[in-house]
Parts: sequence; structure tokens; C-alpha cells
Amino acid sequence: MEMISSLKLCLHFSIVNLAFVALALSDSLRPLGRHTPPTGTLRVTGEFPDPLVFYHFFVKPGEPLLMKNVLTAENFPAYAKWNDEYLREKYGQEEVQVEQGKKENRSEKYYEFTLSQFLNIYNKSNLYMVHDIPKQMAGDVYLPGSLQCGGFEKNLDFSVMWFSSGETKSVLHYDGADNINCLLDGKKEFVLIDKKHRDLVERDGFVKDGTFSTVDVEKVDLDKFPGLKKAPWYEVNMTKGDCLFIPFKWYHHVHSLPGRNLAVNHWFFHLWWFNNSDCERANSAGPLESRPLLEFTKASELELVRSQFLSLFEDKSSISAVEFLEVVSCPRASGVKMFKFLDIDNDHKLEWEELYRFKMDDVMETFHDCIPTLSPPSTYDNKGQFDDTNDDNVNNEKEDLDVNNNANIQDVKDSGGDTNVVLETADKYSMGVEKYAQAVVKKADSQDDSHDEL
Ligand SMILES: *[C@@H]1O[C@H](CO)[C@@H](O)[C@H](O)[C@H]1NC(C)=O
Ligand SMILES: *[C@@H]1O[C@H](CO)[C@@H](O)[C@H](O)[C@H]1NC(C)=O
Ligand SMILES: *[C@@H]1O[C@H](CO)[C@@H](O)[C@H](O)[C@H]1NC(C)=O
Ligand SMILES: *[C@@H]1O[C@H](CO)[C@@H](O)[C@H](O)[C@H]1NC(C)=O
Repeated sequence: MEMISSLKLCLHFSIVNLAFVALALSDSLRPLGRHTPPTGTLRVTGEFPDPLVFYHFFVKPGEPLLMKNVLTAENFPAYAKWNDEYLREKYGQEEVQVEQGKKENRSEKYYEFTLSQFLNIYNKSNLYMVHDIPKQMAGDVYLPGSLQCGGFEKNLDFSVMWFSSGETKSVLHYDGADNINCLLDGKKEFVLIDKKHRDLVERDGFVKDGTFSTVDVEKVDLDKFPGLKKAPWYEVNMTKGDCLFIPFKWYHHVHSLPGRNLAVNHWFFHLWWFNNSDCERANSAGPLESRPLLEFTKASELELVRSQFLSLFEDKSSISAVEFLEVVSCPRASGVKMFKFLDIDNDHKLEWEELYRFKMDDVMETFHDCIPTLSPPSTYDNKGQFDDTNDDNVNNEKEDLDVNNNANIQDVKDSGGDTNVVLETADKYSMGVEKYAQAVVKKADSQDDSHDEL
């Protein structure tokens, strides 16, 4: 009798204990965004801002902006047109890149499907299409007026399509380029952390040259990532028709809610100076309307090198020769020569206009030693992966796919697909940007061995 009651008591205690343990677990292992309350919300507007306003209040200081309900059939035809039937009929044969696994894992490979193969199975699979908008589809994608003058239009990088049946989860990461992300269908929730909290975010488990955190976004272990408990964060919920400006270097985690989810984002290299007179000219006939992406040219990747180089002068209004020589990485004589080359008006100062006027390829040819690369040492080895002119390299890296280990890919086979290939891992869309700058510099180095005489 006594034994039974003490057993009961014991049982009772362990149940209570279990409950405590469960409580403690659910408390510390919550998804990112439920791990601790948000600090607040961000600025919201109902329209695409004027380029000057956009630059001075958002891009320059690095302030995110939620543009609510801004997409229409007129200013972004894909918003109205891109249902599954239309995509299949018009672009079904396009080859697109697809990631295996909606929960992002940067060691995973990605695959090439035709768009119609993807459409056949995306609702029943764990696949996430992340693909640069090909020219054929770019007629439906428009660039907002906010990015059409002032220098933005010369710094456009890829525009990328993100397509799934929802429930995707990115790692917590930052990008080396500014970004406007527009949601055409579904809902997305963002966790954003200001770049100024770098110490808190990067102190534990951060892959520096990959620019992402190894935190499990579904179960945040605050004991292993104590910085995340202290880092103030913002919550942004997007619904279809919204666009979000995500400043470069801001940490973010993106979570798509269940259901069809389709977004297109525009990447542009960070501008350190805004060309007012260019916008005055462009705006003279009235506010800029969204225009087809096809009317604009993607910037040379060398503009990324310029952007990284100019970050060295971020807070200066003009740069003296002494200041210049402090930051360039080449011998003094070479630095002096470069300074003179850039100082077009010969006033012994470099103005921002001059820093954006020189042709990057001229400078890279003659003075590439003087341009330091700012990214951490790179383990990145997919040379050519981001290079438009070098598609052959990419193709050489395709391998045959081991379909046996992979139910989702098997589904494609079952639905009549036969072009599955696997590429080496490279997330060019986000983590590759800074590394790419370094690869470009390395390439220039190896091409030009005739170091300039001093
Ligand atoms: C990511 O994938 C790799 C290789 O498939 C695996 O070893 C690793 O455990 C995965 N990481 C996470 C966080 O799931
Ligand atoms: C975003 O949505 C979640 C529910 O999914 C809600 O708890 C939260 O309050 C929303 N946040 C904002 C800023 O609207
Ligand atoms: C996939 O599911 C969505 C609803 O989330 C639906 O609108 C769409 O037509 C479906 N597509 C296919 C090809 O089944
Ligand atoms: C600034 O804009 C003006 C007017 O469009 C243009 O002539 C000039 O070349 C631009 N400057 C730079 C550095 O791009």
C-alpha cells in the first residue's frame, strides 16, 4: 500500500518534472522569430518611393522599407499573369534551378529542371526553385521607378525568381547587395536584424565567408546562440502585392507560409553616392514609372568590386591623396599614379562623381593591385559560376544524379523528366556576391601578370 502510494507520488513527480522539462525546451528551442519578442516594426509605405527619397532615407542609412500593396498588373505584369497554366504554356521549356529541401541547407546541391517539370510536382514536393530570371521571361518583370536613375540603374545585378508551395525557411544570413523583394503570391514572414548588431549575431556559429549563421531556424538554442537573445529584431509580414527593401548587410531569415509562394527580387550593388543630376534629367517629364527589366542592362560584376572598394571612403565627402594612399593596397608609386588617373579635374581631391566616373575595367587592367578585396579569405571555388560569359564551365560541373536516394527527384522521373543534373553547391544569389568580387580580382590578377612599372 505504502509502496503503491510512493510509486504514485514518484510518478506524479516525474510527470511534473517532464512538464517542466517540456516547458523549458519549448521556451528555448523555438523557431527564429518566436525565440524572443520582436523589437518593433519597420517603416511602411503604400507606393514605390521616388529614387532620391529611396536613396537618402533607406539605401544610404540602411533602413528597410515595406512597400505595401504596390504591385499591379500594369507595373508588374507577372503579378497578374504568372499562374501555373500561363507559366507552363509560355515558359515550360525554360531550364530552371531548383533546390532540394525547403529548409535551406547551404551544403545541399541544386538541380536543373524544366519549368514544366517543376510545375508538375512542386505542390507535392520539398523543392524550391531559385532561379535568375531568364531573358525570355524578363518581359513580364518590371523595374520600379525607384531604381531607374541616380546610379541604381547602372548597378543592377540579377533578378531572381523564388517559387515553391510554401513552408520554405532560409538560414539567417546577410547579402552583399541591396535587394527589393516583391511577393507575387502567398505570404512570407521575415526576421530582420540590423547590421549594427553584428557582434551579437556573429559571435557564435557564424560562417564568415558564407555570411550565414548555423543556428537552426526551427529550434533556436539560446544557450548556444546567446547573442540572438539580446539582438533586437524586426518582424515583417508580407502578403501578395507587397515589396520589401532589404538593405545589404542586414541579417534576415525568410519563412514562406504554406501555399503557393512566388516572389521576384531585384539585387543591386550598394551605391555610396547618388547622382542627383541624373535623376533630375530622368524625372523631368514627371515621376518615373516601372519599366520592363528588358530595357535595363545587368551591371558588370566589376561594379561590385567598385562598390566594395568605395566602401572604404564611406563617410568622407572627398578624398585627399594621403587618405587615398592609406587604404589602397599597392606600393605608393602605383597608388599615386592611380590617384592622378582618377582625379580628372586635377584638384588633388577625389570627389564622388570621379569615383563613379572612371571605367572599372580600365582601372582593373592597370591598377588592380591597388584595389583591396574586403571579403574574408575565400574557399569559394566555383570560378565561372557567376560569369555570364562562362556558361561552359557551369555545364562541365554537372553530374549525373543518384536518383535512388531522392524521392522528390524520383517524382520528376516518374512524371517523364529526363534532364536532371546536379551542380556543385554554390548559392550565388546571396552568399556568393562578396566572394565573387574576390574571384573577379583574382581572375584579373592571373590574366595580367605584367605588373605596372612603379
Ligand atoms: C545539411 O546537409 C548536409 C549534407 O547533406 C548534412 O550533413 C547536414 O547535417 C545538413 N545540415 C542541417 C542543418 O540540416
Ligand atoms: C505576423 O504574423 C504573425 C502570425 O503568423 C503574427 O503573430 C505577428 O503578430 C505578425 N506581425 C506583424 C508585424 O504583423
Ligand atoms: C498548386 O497549388 C496551388 C494552391 O496552393 C494552386 O493554385 C496551383 O494551381 C497548384 N498547381 C498545380 C500545378 O497543381
Ligand atoms: C551623373 O548624371 C549625369 C546626367 O545624367 C551624367 O551626365 C553623368 O555622367 C553622371 N555621372 C556619373 C559619375 O555617372
